[in-house]
Amino acid sequence: MGRHIHVIGIGAGDPDYVTVQAIEALNDTQVFFAMDKGEAKSDLVALRREVCARFIREPGYRFVELPDPKRSTGPDYREGVSDWHAARARVWASAIATELGADGVGAFLAWGDPSLYDSTLRILDAVAAEVEFTLDVIPGITAVQALTARHRIPLNEVGEPVLITTGRRLREHGLAGSAVVMLDGDCSFQACPPDTKIWWGAYLGTTDELLVAGTVGEVGPRIAALRADARARHGWIMDTYLLRPAD
Ligand SMILES: C[S@@+](CC[C@H](N)C(=O)[O-])C[C@H]1O[C@@H](n2cnc3c(N)ncnc32)[C@H](O)[C@@H]1O
Repeated sequence: MGRHIHVIGIGAGDPDYVTVQAIEALNDTQVFFAMDKGEAKSDLVALRREVCARFIREPGYRFVELPDPKRSTGPDYREGVSDWHAARARVWASAIATELGADGVGAFLAWGDPSLYDSTLRILDAVAAEVEFTLDVIPGITAVQALTARHRIPLNEVGEPVLITTGRRLREHGLAGSAVVMLDGDCSFQACPPDTKIWWGAYLGTTDELLVAGTVGEVGPRIAALRADARARHGWIMDTYLLRPAD
């Protein structure tokens, strides 16, 4: 048998996004490992606990909070991230070794889907060098799918590709074709031509959800203002948007 870890995609906001497969994995888990990301993100930790409370039929499980090592903010972004992942891997390896019995089942809950801008699988890869365990991955509804569903739009144009990128890369490379932008703290769409179409969503799938659609010229300033206001009120924000160049 040996130790087993589920990496469970829990969807990007609405507990109703949790799949039947995820519910089975939640019910199979004895120990949930959760990263402690500090006060600002405590709403997100609370949502994870809500998912467990709602879907687990016999609550014999435990939560183990993993302290999140500090991320260095040096000039080399990739090097900073890779040192940070290595530090996390050490913390996770020791928690898995001490908190899970020889045949124990643990889980990491990944926001949305674990394949998309999520480091859980990469870190567990490094952890596997230190502790032995088997692993499976349960897919979840991503913020991209939540965004297109709430705006009731297709993601791609007929036969066309879509790029999924970050605000930083949008600023560096500009827009060529349709692109979904995530992890953007700076409203980077503002640098796009004013006739660029935008479908924006924040706190998707939650009761605080915000949706705006139009062109960058028409709705860009409103999105920037809404975003700043919501961020100040909640202390954090997660937003995603789809851009398409004008026809
Ligand atoms: C670290 S990534 C995680 C993405 C996640 N794994 C997924 O499948 O959607 C976090 C980014 O996802 C987007 N995001 C996640 N949840 C969201 C939500 N409920 N509403 C809007 N954007 C969201 C935001 O762009 C945020 O900066």
